[in-house]
Amino acid sequence: MLSSTFHLLVHAKYLIMWFMVASTILFSIVESNKEAPFPAMFVFGDSLIDPGNNNDLFTLAKADFYPNGIDFAMGVTGRYCNGGTLVDHLGNLLGLPLIPPFNNPNTRGSNILKGVNYASGAAGILWDTGLIYGDVFTMDEQIQNFRETLDELSRLLGNETQDFVGRSVFFICMGANDYINNYLHPLTRKDNKYTATAYVQLLIQEYRRQIKEIYDLGARKFLIAGIPALGCTPNQIGASSDSRGECVKSSNQLALQFNSHVQVLVQELNTTLAASSFLFWDTFQPLYSIISNYSLYGFKYPNKACCGGGRAKGQIICLPVLPLECHNRSEYIFWDPFHPTDAMNAIVSKDAYNLLLQSWDLSAL
Ligand SMILES: *[C@@H]1O[C@H](CO)[C@@H](O)[C@H](O)[C@H]1NC(C)=O
Ligand SMILES: *[C@@H]1O[C@H](CO)[C@@H](O)[C@H](O)[C@H]1NC(C)=O
Ligand SMILES: *[C@@H]1O[C@H](CO)[C@@H](O)[C@H](O)[C@H]1NC(C)=O
Ligand SMILES: *[C@@H]1O[C@H](CO)[C@@H](O)[C@H](O)[C@H]1NC(C)=O
Repeated sequence: MLSSTFHLLVHAKYLIMWFMVASTILFSIVESNKEAPFPAMFVFGDSLIDPGNNNDLFTLAKADFYPNGIDFAMGVTGRYCNGGTLVDHLGNLLGLPLIPPFNNPNTRGSNILKGVNYASGAAGILWDTGLIYGDVFTMDEQIQNFRETLDELSRLLGNETQDFVGRSVFFICMGANDYINNYLHPLTRKDNKYTATAYVQLLIQEYRRQIKEIYDLGARKFLIAGIPALGCTPNQIGASSDSRGECVKSSNQLALQFNSHVQVLVQELNTTLAASSFLFWDTFQPLYSIISNYSLYGFKYPNKACCGGGRAKGQIICLPVLPLECHNRSEYIFWDPFHPTDAMNAIVSKDAYNLLLQSWDLSAL
């Protein structure tokens, strides 16, 4: 009762703000009528890009409540963000509409013809990553869900399906939770069982098999993202003994090690899988550069979350009962203990777009 009254108060306070910011984001996301260079985008990943696939799963890894979506045209959707994710912004730059979540009854028929997003909060490459929170769509389950989409595409497009899938872009961003919610998590502590090198080898072996499976299903154009600077999240910064609010080096080291292995994997797959085109997108460096020079990019708060609780607002997840003190979300790099704001996603997605522009002749596709 107390919390719902409080919720209403907080809501009223932000209503005007909501309209101001939501209308801006509505325009930036919907207003794109240029011809898209790809017919569709299919997305595999975790909470950084989950558009609401966990909403009706039995799990604690959910974001389908206020104030998530506070600055988003569609409001609360299950996105772990105040506004659009990296994929929403990249899709917008590519002239694609919002890519719908697989696990939604409306993602059927012609609604799948611009792509489908399978990403699931807390999920990882390994089957047991994220299980500490409950159910998730693991990477293998996301691929299984893509098979279902393929069946439906075949009914819709007939013999054009393979051509359609081959021309579509496949965005894959996995691995962060295999560290945060598995290797490093106090409940699983895989770091007692594996050295960092043995663990990254295990991850890459699984990731290779999974990406090949997607290739075998007809995908040809891959954008594989590395994982961000894990040690720079408010969660890690708040939990560290360092009081200066600096990034946690050991966690960043794990991310860099994983990314360098993914980069080699991408080169390997690019040369061994016929007629494929793989791009590796390093998200670590751009994120790190923006955090290091935050004021150049218009941010005021590089290392504390906008919505959350505890030290650096990184120790309690973003919940409706917490006071939302950040009136201007664009001043923050992080929305919650783990996820960037809409403002940050808008900047970083340009980097992926430029990579696509430089590497694939988008006008010729
Ligand atoms: C699909 O089938 C139609 C009619 O049989 C044919 O004209 C067309 O060339 C086929 N397209 C492909 C991509 O095989
Ligand atoms: C993939 O191969 C193409 C040539 O087929 C090359 O131009 C491109 O640089 C390669 N990409 C990677 C990531 O190795
Ligand atoms: C920001 O900081 C990084 C070092 O972390 C540096 O390499 C980069 O060039 C700087 N400048 C900009 C504009 O990001
Ligand atoms: C919010 O912050 C951004 C970045 O510092 C700034 O450009 C913008 O003018 C601010 N908006 C409002 C309404 O204060």
